[in-house]
Amino acid sequence: MVSSSITPVLLSVAVYLCAAGAVNPGFVVRLTQMGLDYARQQGMTVLQQELAKVHLPDFSGSAHSPVGKVKYHFDSMKIRNFQLPNSQISPMPGVGLKLSISGGFIEIDGRWHVKALHISTKGGFNLKVEGISISVGLKVGSDTSGRPTIALSDCSNHISDVKIHVSGKLSWLVDLFRHNVDNALRKAIENQICPLVSNSITSKLEPLLQTLKVTAKIDNVAAIDYSLTGPPPVTTDCVDVQLKGEFFELSHRTPPPFSPPALKLPSDHSLMVYFGVSDYLFNTAGFVYYTAGKLIFNITDNMIPKDFSIRLNTSSFGVLIPQLKKMYPDMLMKLKISSTSAPSLDIRPGNITISPHIDIQAYVILPNSSLAPAFLLNLTTTALAKVAVKSGWIVGNLELSRVLMDLKHSDVGPFSVVILNTAVNYYLSKVILPQVNQILNKGYPLPLLDNVQLTDVVLQPQQDFLLFGANIHYGKTLNSTWIDRY
Ligand SMILES: *[C@@H]1O[C@H](CO)[C@@H](O)[C@H](O)[C@H]1NC(C)=O
Ligand SMILES: *[C@@H]1O[C@H](CO)[C@@H](O)[C@H](O)[C@H]1NC(C)=O
Ligand SMILES: *[C@@H]1O[C@H](CO)[C@@H](O)[C@H](O)[C@H]1NC(C)=O
Ligand SMILES: *[C@@H]1O[C@H](CO)[C@@H](O)[C@H](O)[C@H]1NC(C)=O
Ligand SMILES: *[C@@H]1O[C@H](CO)[C@@H](O)[C@H](O)[C@H]1NC(C)=O
Ligand SMILES: *[C@@H]1O[C@H](CO)[C@@H](O)[C@H](O)[C@H]1NC(C)=O
Repeated sequence: MVSSSITPVLLSVAVYLCAAGAVNPGFVVRLTQMGLDYARQQGMTVLQQELAKVHLPDFSGSAHSPVGKVKYHFDSMKIRNFQLPNSQISPMPGVGLKLSISGGFIEIDGRWHVKALHISTKGGFNLKVEGISISVGLKVGSDTSGRPTIALSDCSNHISDVKIHVSGKLSWLVDLFRHNVDNALRKAIENQICPLVSNSITSKLEPLLQTLKVTAKIDNVAAIDYSLTGPPPVTTDCVDVQLKGEFFELSHRTPPPFSPPALKLPSDHSLMVYFGVSDYLFNTAGFVYYTAGKLIFNITDNMIPKDFSIRLNTSSFGVLIPQLKKMYPDMLMKLKISSTSAPSLDIRPGNITISPHIDIQAYVILPNSSLAPAFLLNLTTTALAKVAVKSGWIVGNLELSRVLMDLKHSDVGPFSVVILNTAVNYYLSKVILPQVNQILNKGYPLPLLDNVQLTDVVLQPQQDFLLFGANIHYGKTLNSTWIDRY
């Protein structure tokens, strides 16, 4: 009784540990079975080309026959056809991947020479090597630079059949040592397959994995750390590459005062790759720009569109706050808008919102250019975020949806803050937001390998993270355009 109820608990703990590292990632790239199959297809093309480099050495020997000792020599062997038609890739939980190739065949043409008694004869031959099977174990890991690695953990191969067909005068002689020929060629090929597989991995796959940019510089202030948090966990149906996904300040990196939430990626795997982008990525961006003092904006009258009637001067504002005009007749004003804390994104199914707390300090610009404080407003704003993927970049756009405002302090006597609603809403949505959106429209790069492009992108906000699903296209041919919007 006891053991039967404990076992499932232990199992689920084991599964959980396998799928999640010690530190929650800020960004997860999940390769599904479909994604692995696509990678396998691409890889098999390369592997087939590499294996076709198998070197078939000349070989000689002798055999005893009814007509005495026969000496033979085989040379000029060339691969005419090489096919690896069937292959499969499957995740091996906790280890890596298993690649199984079966039904491979090679056709080889060559020449033979035979000397027996005083006869010397020669001819051509055609060799069919059939039923080649190769089993390759791949261990996935991470290196000290935080990039993914893949290494051969085991490799074995088997050839089920070698058929030789000889032509030329006295070709029956070859039948006498057919067995030696079969064995010699089988061994020569079998001995070379695994070293060639290993070579393909180090010369083709590893350099590709090294193209992951573990640091993506965004501007002069910040970069994103896309290094792996550890070896990618492999489960029965996917490989999760877990990345730090954290903004940091280039000039001096300080750990953010919060940590990433656990991401529960859905088990729907109808696309090749899924990206789970934690709110942590966006919130570390907010933290970095806030700490670097970049979330402060000034508004002056010349920045306000000409057709808007409430100008940033004491005559115009004096209509709303008469004592301002009395104290400072006909002077220009300036607003300093600053975020009072690091803004954070709220991601939940159906909605992405950001609710920054901001202060607006209004100044009067005195004739000698110094600033006289007029009043200080504190605001809680809510903006809806729209997110899209464009050429491998996450881009965004904010739309102001709600502004709540209080008067925190006044140097010009009390007034009702409601009268400033129109002006403040206008300044925020027409002057500040366009500046912010210009930055968000440039976007953040997704961690992709060179020449990997995304198609069929779908976007879904989930609890605490954004989920992007996509198919992969490897190559340079696809055009990058707006792909999808949420
Ligand atoms: C805003 O104005 C102040 C002076 O009033 C200046 O020191 C600061 O650099 C300005 N900030 C920006 C972002 O222009
Ligand atoms: C202030 O704005 C009003 C329009 O509301 C304009 O007529 C006036 O010239 C402006 N004053 C200054 C000092 O810019
Ligand atoms: C999303 O946000 C909008 C605006 O704040 C709100 O009207 C809507 O109900 C929200 N939807 C969900 C699913 O939370
Ligand atoms: C500017 O003028 C104001 C009032 O006229 C005065 O209090 C202030 O000291 C002056 N500032 C400078 C830098 O001269
Ligand atoms: C303004 O600040 C006060 C005091 O910190 C706070 O109680 C109030 O909720 C704030 N108002 C807004 C709209 O954020
Ligand atoms: C892809 O882009 C290239 C260059 O930008 C352009 O010449 C070509 O017509 C585009 N092809 C398609 C299918 O859109």
